[in-house]
Amino acid sequence: MGVQSLHDNPPRKSAATATKGTGPFADLVGIVLRPLHRLIWANPERRARKLLQFAEVEAAGGRDLVRAAELTADPVLRDRYLRHARDEARHADMFQAQGRKLHGKLHEGDANGALGEWIAPGERGIDGLDVARESDATLLAFLHLSESAAARDFARYAHVIDDDAATRTLFQRILRDEDQHKKYTRDELFRIAPRRSRRVLWWARLRRLWKAYLRFATAFAGVIAGVVLTLQYFLLLPPFAWLAKRAARRERTGWISVDERARR
Ligand SMILES: [Fe+2]
Ligand SMILES: [Fe+2]
Repeated sequence: MGVQSLHDNPPRKSAATATKGTGPFADLVGIVLRPLHRLIWANPERRARKLLQFAEVEAAGGRDLVRAAELTADPVLRDRYLRHARDEARHADMFQAQGRKLHGKLHEGDANGALGEWIAPGERGIDGLDVARESDATLLAFLHLSESAAARDFARYAHVIDDDAATRTLFQRILRDEDQHKKYTRDELFRIAPRRSRRVLWWARLRRLWKAYLRFATAFAGVIAGVVLTLQYFLLLPPFAWLAKRAARRERTGWISVDERARR
């Protein structure tokens, strides 16, 4: 599974915009988030780090799909999961190659990932689900929503990366696959659970919402912890530093015998 050159055969415009039509609400959210996405992706260091993170998530998603293929009793689904897993492994290679290329040009550093991770997450795969405990229908519903979100997010990222044609092309290329994943998971869900597919999809939406809330709460708690520790540093530490300095001034300089110290 080699990494493709990002400059060869760039995707046609129709592929890059394939995810349009996700709904007015999603379009509005995309417009509201655009300045933040632009800010996150404008920093080359952060861009490299995020691409390497995406590579890890894509690789983990591929492994989960192989596990799902082992567990399903449906031969058609098994075949589709395995093909899907190969795609995710290829995405991992592509993200890793581009991330390393960018990272090689930069210094280590930057920080702060928690909030950026929440705002620009990339593909989440099955998002921590235990594959062995999910039915084919619930897993497909979850995958469908996850792939839809990935395709939409990658389209947004490609839209705001102005000065890095290779990374932009990478996103455009990968989002074509994500669109395919989105379509096949929906079709398979309707095939294996035609009567309850909509209910299963709504349940999956609620579970994703809950997971998104937990991620936000974790990122927010990290920010609050940083503020509290900074305040503690500046408000609580100075009095102790002053007391320590005052005690140090009272100390006599030079050697003091143990007996003399005991008498004081
Ligand atoms: Fe992917
Ligand atoms: Fe995918």
